[in-house]
Amino acid sequence: MNKIPECLIHPVSIKLLRQGHPWITSDNFSNRFPKQSEFIVATDERKRPIALLIHDPHHRNVKARVWSTKFPFDREAQHFTASIQGRLDLAFEKRFQQKELKERENYYLVFGEADQLPGLFILKLKDRILVQFYTNFWNRYKSIIQTTLQEIFPEITDENIWFQLRGETKQLQKLPQNSVDPDRKDEFHLAEFGIQYLIRLGLSYDHGLYTDMSSIRQIIKGYIKPQMKVLNLFSYTGAFSLWSLKLGASSVVSVDLSPKYIEWLQHNLSLNPELDHTRHEAMNKSVEEALEEVHKEKRTFDLIICDPPSSSSDGEKRTSAIKAYKELLMKMDRVLANHGKLVVFLNTHQLNQDKFERTLKDYLMELKLDYKISSRLQLGQDCPTLKGFPEGSYLKGMVLEKQ
Ligand SMILES: C[S@@+](CC[C@H](N)C(=O)[O-])C[C@H]1O[C@@H](n2cnc3c(N)ncnc32)[C@H](O)[C@@H]1O
Repeated sequence: MNKIPECLIHPVSIKLLRQGHPWITSDNFSNRFPKQSEFIVATDERKRPIALLIHDPHHRNVKARVWSTKFPFDREAQHFTASIQGRLDLAFEKRFQQKELKERENYYLVFGEADQLPGLFILKLKDRILVQFYTNFWNRYKSIIQTTLQEIFPEITDENIWFQLRGETKQLQKLPQNSVDPDRKDEFHLAEFGIQYLIRLGLSYDHGLYTDMSSIRQIIKGYIKPQMKVLNLFSYTGAFSLWSLKLGASSVVSVDLSPKYIEWLQHNLSLNPELDHTRHEAMNKSVEEALEEVHKEKRTFDLIICDPPSSSSDGEKRTSAIKAYKELLMKMDRVLANHGKLVVFLNTHQLNQDKFERTLKDYLMELKLDYKISSRLQLGQDCPTLKGFPEGSYLKGMVLEKQ
């Protein structure tokens, strides 16, 4: 192996890296890393090596990710392949130990940086596996990843292993591709907490069920009581709606702007004949419009779930979810029954849990609304997070109780 280039990194990166942050973002230092080099040894201002990095010069923002802080780095690089296998095995083992995952056919086998496999996410979707690369770096190691997976899951055939490059820009967002047939489309069903969902691979960027929300769905089970009236805003394919029906809600209203996702939700309902479909209503319109409509009709709900995209556009201007929350809170409050609960989420790393809470508290104060935070929601179980790495804790939520 050629000698690994040693490169000085930005003073802020040195500080962050020492605090456990595993990314080197684009700056005057990282943009000068030798392009052809797979690995980089990061050094501080006194030329002391501090970390072995995996390098992705083509990534718009994250130019390198920490692979190891253990010396000697040349040996760490020589043993790279064996380390991938070791880290994969460890991540799988952790999931096999988690009893909660037995109720789900969908869970993360690997959750990137928190499993010491930076930029690599692997989902088990019933008898399929979806490998997601957030950095092009992993493309070279596809076959090692696939072989290691098949050693642990020999029943999973090549055609049931899917790879997807995930990007932070629309241009980089790619469909999952099958390892043997890039043009294959695959539709199948899987069960989460006894509910069947339609999963589509090879057809669209997202496959129809947010697995990172599964552990939260399990937690909010405690808030969905029989005979409750539930409003599910930004419902997507309806995971929270079906879950509410399963838990005995007397009525569930799902709201989503996308006809495709409303149709998908209806299909998911049809897969679960034991759920009472007459209790479900789908509103294919914007949340803003739906909240006005139910208000005019003087309808109220005991529980409102609100999981907006991190930002949305009305065709003219883009609004971030956090900004939109002020009006949303006002409108949700009008249709929330006395002592009702709001389950609100924010899907961005740009604001931490504390800031999210403080912002919502400020809005509530300005609106003169009296709510108490009864629970905080975050990634968990198969989706671990890492101290000092806010980008990995992108999902946050809370349950607000109307006083
Ligand atoms: C983050 S997903 C919600 C995921 C869902 N809560 C789940 O757990 O499966 C956001 C959804 O909001 C929808 N959406 C975006 N803007 C909207 C709007 N203004 N009104 C209604 N739905 C909207 C999108 O079509 C998408 O399905």
